[in-house]
Parts: sequence; structure tokens; C-alpha cells
Amino acid sequence: MCGIVGFTGRQSAAPVLLEGLKKLEYRGYDSAGIAVMDGKSITVNKVRGRIANLCEKTKDGAKVPGTTGIGHTRWATHGAPTEENAHPHLSNDGRFAIVHNGIIENYLSLREELTQDGYHFLSETDTEVIVHLLEMYYRGNVRDALIKTANRLRGSYALGVICSEEPGKIYAVREASPLILGVGIDENFFASDVTALVNHTRNVIYLEDGEFAELSDTSIRIFDCSGQEIHKKATRVLWDVQAAEKGGYEHFMLKEIMEQPGAVKATLAPRMKEHGVEFEELTGLLPKLPSIRKILITACGSAYYAGCAGKYALEHLARIPVEVELASELRYSDPLIDESTLLIVISQSGETADTIAAMKECKARGAKTLAIVNVVGSSVATLADFAVYTWAGPEIAVATTKGYTTQVTVLYMLALYFADHLNRIGEEKARLQEALQAMPRRIQESIDMNANIPALARKYHKAKALFFIGRNTDYAVALEGALKMKEISYLHAEAYAAGELKHGTIALIEEHQPVIALCANPSIMEKTLSNMVEVKSRGAEVLALTFRNNQKILSVADDLLFMPEVDPLFSAVMEIVPLQLLAYYVARENGCDIDKPKNLAKSVTVE
Ligand code: BG6
Repeated sequence: MCGIVGFTGRQSAAPVLLEGLKKLEYRGYDSAGIAVMDGKSITVNKVRGRIANLCEKTKDGAKVPGTTGIGHTRWATHGAPTEENAHPHLSNDGRFAIVHNGIIENYLSLREELTQDGYHFLSETDTEVIVHLLEMYYRGNVRDALIKTANRLRGSYALGVICSEEPGKIYAVREASPLILGVGIDENFFASDVTALVNHTRNVIYLEDGEFAELSDTSIRIFDCSGQEIHKKATRVLWDVQAAEKGGYEHFMLKEIMEQPGAVKATLAPRMKEHGVEFEELTGLLPKLPSIRKILITACGSAYYAGCAGKYALEHLARIPVEVELASELRYSDPLIDESTLLIVISQSGETADTIAAMKECKARGAKTLAIVNVVGSSVATLADFAVYTWAGPEIAVATTKGYTTQVTVLYMLALYFADHLNRIGEEKARLQEALQAMPRRIQESIDMNANIPALARKYHKAKALFFIGRNTDYAVALEGALKMKEISYLHAEAYAAGELKHGTIALIEEHQPVIALCANPSIMEKTLSNMVEVKSRGAEVLALTFRNNQKILSVADDLLFMPEVDPLFSAVMEIVPLQLLAYYVARENGCDIDKPKNLAKSVTVE
């Protein structure tokens, strides 16, 4: 995700900004830039790619005079990762430069209004509307212009601003995107997170939503959204840089599990409208929708299992047959595909070789292609006829968590969106829309309901094998749950359709064999319950995942994982969370390298 830094003091700003941006590199980015003010002139330098390119361009900042400035690492969301789209962005009159971390949800209407008012846009970003609003509202007082601008914005923003009319000052504005002030001696800072500050100062002030600050070398003034000055105490950061990168969590994977409510919300929010789900990026697909006879989903790894989970909602709501195929198989299977096929390609990185190859094969046979990706401008996104982005932010841990849950979230929204535009949805639409809107809160409940998982991990972490069983939507989640366990704890884990036990696997059940039974789908709960009894009668220990009040399951299970009671059509996003946590704590008990499991890569770009 993007990162911003700001500095004002007595020393040259550019080297300080570059060093701060390097500390934010771990967050993932695809372009970078700095704006430095020397007296009344602002110089902007920005590059596509790595900060090293920016260091080379500015000779590590030596070429850029001035003791005040702002900097940015960009994780592309709106607009490809190009130099034009990189921050900082300048106002047309050159007075203002800004950097931004977040998403401005109403940027299209603001862009239209500003364009009509004669402002000229140089980039495709949502961010650029901010700097033109500042110019439009500026009447000699930057604080007033900031307040008026912030009142027009909807969405999330951590903003850094400099104005050539106020040499030596930097401004920071926070709304739903972290922003921290660093309190120095004859110098002050701001940054998206403490990793960029701790080398200069451990005295920090955490801005809260709606607050903004005016910093000079010797003063920090903080205001609320009405412009009323407020006093906030500095706190002392005790973290080291490594811990700070993980937000205080021990591993990136745990941090990313905890980020899922926010990641799913960021993926949902811009598309959930009063009247229903809207995908601006898919309007070109709508006229073709009635001619689609088959949806084929293809991907690898967890992305494939996301497809397995989304299939049920797509078929049930859109009433279009859905097949899900491994990309590594599809590419060699001489698939029956033509113009009436919609290929949905799922990929977090957008660079998985098998997925790209399968996609090319299907395109060559006439399929329309819709990509669900997390990396803007990636190969899969570029190759597709239509690209829908998950807004999970960069995922650092090799084993995906928020990547998977945001992919499934997009599939759920597509199911409603297609059904709506095909007039195949009735009065259940409002209920399902609410269920989607509630998912971020329900994911948090799934996290909060399972404080017992570290203890369960201590009980099961030496198991020779773990069986995950479930039916229908539960089975789809069992597949991903078993993969999580294998990937990071190295225990053998296998997902099985519960109804298939009697056709083979039950032969493997022996005394104390752990079986994880997923019971979140009421329509087939009784069947899975009888499977639990079957395996228990052969000595298995059953760890059931179900709702709190599900007495029948509770009375049979030996151990329990909980999730909130949700519509089974949209349950995978909540149901997978306890299984992610179980895999995490089992791996932790086994002393595994959780963020970088042996033999695995975050994206397999070769066959
Ligand atoms: C694997 C990753 O290498 O590739 C998985 O470890 C991922 O987490 C799979 O699900 C597919 O990658 P992508 O980027 O195409 O979703």
C-alpha cells in the first residue's frame, strides 16, 4: 500500500525523505517521488519502479536543495504504475504539492467538476482531485483551504501537503488512513507508520480521523476538522523497525489476517451502492451478459480455492453454470470454450505463469476474460478484457489470507451484480446486500470468537495428519483450510468432501486422528453431523467449526472453533478465518518460518 513521509527542519530535506521512503518499501509499491521546497520554489522528482531509481535521479537527494518536503511510495489503485501517476502531484498554479495514501471514492464526480472549472489533470489517479481542490479553495490561508477540501472528499486519506506561499511548513491530514507525527529537536516529521520515524525520533503523535497538523521546524500545531486547535500528547515508540513493519505483530501473516476486515471493506465499499452492486469497470461486459452460457473460473493455489468458494453464489444467484479449473490443468486440457464463455481469472499477484498461460489459451478460443487481481497493472490485469481489483493492499506473507478473502468477496459481489442485471434476483436482494455490507464486522467476530486457538494448536501441532471435512460451501472452505495448514505448518492435511469419507478416507481414521469438521451450512448440517459421529466411532477426535448456538454439533465435537451465523451463500469469508488462525498457531508451535515457508514463493512466475 502507499506510504507518505514529510520533513521540515534545518538539514537538507531530500536525503531524509529518501531514507524515510526506504523504510516504507516493505509495504509494497510500484513508483515513488519527492517534492522539496527551497524558499518559495517546489521541485518534484518522481520515478516508476524502485526508490533506488529516485536516489539515482536525485543523486541521493544532493541535487535537490531545500529543508522542507514530502515523499511518497505508490501502490497503484487508480491508474497504472507510471511516472505521471506517481505522487507528489502539483496544482496547476504550482503552489501546492501533495502526497496521499488511501482511496477517494468520489473522485470521478470531483474530477468532472474540476475539469469543467478549467483545472487540467495530468494523471489518472484519484489523488489529483485533492491538489486542484486546494488550489480552488486557497485564499491565502492553507488551513482554511485544507478544511474546505477535506469537506469535499469521501473515502480514506492520509495527506501530506506543502505550499510555496508558506516556506518551512508541511501539513498532514488524516481520515481513515494512518498518519503519525514525529517530534524532533528543531525538526519535525510525519509518516504513514513509525518505521520511517524511529531513526530520527521515538516521540510521536498519532493523528486521529478528522485531525490535521501544521508543522514547522520548531512547532507542531494540531486542529480538528472544524479548524479548532487541539492539544495532543506525544507518546514514546518502543518498537524496533522490524516489529514496526509488522505493526507490532510477530509475523506479516498474522498482521494480514487481522487486516482482513479492513481489506474486505476497502474491496466492498466503492461497489456497494444503495440500489445494488455496481462495477464501473464492467459496464462494457453488461451487453454481453445474456449471451454467456458458461462461466469458467481458473487460478492456482488459494486463488483456485477462492473460485471454488465463489462458485456456489454465482450459480445460485446468476443461474449460469460455473466450472472451476486449475490453471495448470486447464492450459493443457483442450478446453471446450467459445465466445459464450466468460473466463474469470483470479490471481493475487497477477503474475502466476500457469494462470497467464491458461488465460491466453482461453482467449485464443474466444472466451471473454474478467480478471480478479490485487496488483494494478499486472500481466493478468493487462491481458484481461475486464479487470476487477481487490483492494487488499500488498500481501507480504507467502501464504495468502486477505488476498483469498477479498477474491471471494469480489465473486460474491459479481454473483449479485450478474443476477441483478439478468433480472434473476427477487426480494432476497436487499437481504444479501446487507449480508455483504456486514462481512467486515462478521470477519472481526470470527477473529474475536476464537481466543482458544493457541491452546488448540498446542494440542494438535504434533498430529501426523489432519483431515478437513465438509459439504458444499463447507467443503470449498475445507480445501483452503487444509492448504493453509500444509503451507505453513508442514503437517500433512487433506480436505475431503464429507460424503466421500465412506468411499476411502475413513480407512485412514484411527485412534486420536484429528478431524476438522466444517459445519456452517444448515442445509447439510445433519449430514456432516453424521459424518462426525462416523469418524468418532472409529476413534477420531473431532474439532468442529460452527455457530455458537449449534447445540447438536457442540454435543458431539471434542473441540470447537466458532464463527458468526451468516448466510451460507456468503460464509466462506468468515469461515476461513479460524482455520487461518489455527494454521498460523500450529506453525508457530512447530517453529516454522511462517512468512516465508520452505520451497514456496509468493508468486510462481515460472511453470
Ligand atoms: C502460490 C502462493 O505460490 O501461488 C499462493 O503461495 C497463491 O498464496 C498461488 O494462492 C497463486 O498465486 P496468485 O498470485 O496467482 O494468486
